[in-house]
Amino acid sequence: MKRLNIPGIRQRKVDGVTEQPVVMLTAYTARQAQLLDAHCDLLLVGDSLGQVIYGLPSSVPVTLDMMSAHGAAVVRGSYHAAVVVDMPFGAYEQSPQQAFESASRLLKETGCDAVKLEGGTAMAETVAFLTQRGIPVMGHVGLTPQAVNVLGGYNARGRSAAEAEKIVGDARAIADAGAFAIVVEGVVEPLAIAITKAIPCPTIGIGASAQCDGQVLVTDDMLGMFERTPRFVKIYEHLAETISAAAATYAAEVRARTFPGVEQTYQPK
Ligand code: KIV
Ligand code: NA
Repeated sequence: MKRLNIPGIRQRKVDGVTEQPVVMLTAYTARQAQLLDAHCDLLLVGDSLGQVIYGLPSSVPVTLDMMSAHGAAVVRGSYHAAVVVDMPFGAYEQSPQQAFESASRLLKETGCDAVKLEGGTAMAETVAFLTQRGIPVMGHVGLTPQAVNVLGGYNARGRSAAEAEKIVGDARAIADAGAFAIVVEGVVEPLAIAITKAIPCPTIGIGASAQCDGQVLVTDDMLGMFERTPRFVKIYEHLAETISAAAATYAAEVRARTFPGVEQTYQPK
């Protein structure tokens, strides 16, 4: 089977209409990618792996080496969905040239289909530079977690008319620069709808609106791996409880010397 391609994802939205919403989930490991692959159009190797895998306080300390290692694992574990790898903080903001160097490294080292970067008008020149040189780019506007130190937190954006107008301008600039899709994160719903109407490429919502052209969630969030998740996460499964209960049973059986049992031990013929 042939992997979905980026132009095909872009073409899901024709004259402002998206008949088949774009399905995206994050993946960081090969096995996770294998399990999600058939169900998704896009797998995102998000820099959220900083918090989810490495226990970091934000995505700011995530490195290009981390993104490359996990990106390669996700590409190895999938064959249907197109794979998008996040450019980490510090790897692209300085100049279009710096961004091209980082993005081309990710493409070569991982075999991914596209990269994603955060930011609006200030990043438009960089998005154009990459797309004109063979690197498909997904944008990310609204609540941009790499800018947490400037934004002051992870609160929803676009509550004031002025801020909403600025974010629509950000999305327009990135779309005009050639992005094939744009993640719209953590914005009030009318703003998510306005952006979706304003730009020709698909919007991928998270904490946004069901009227976006697609949706993304952090897989570990929707699987209930954490004690606390943001309001916009729907918990589809409670894996943390399942894992904790399995570990408790194992520990009890080891202490009672009932594991391993006959089925798990080798006996002489
Ligand atoms: O890093 C990430 O997981 C993301 C998605 C939440 C869009 O950027
Ligand atoms: Na991210």
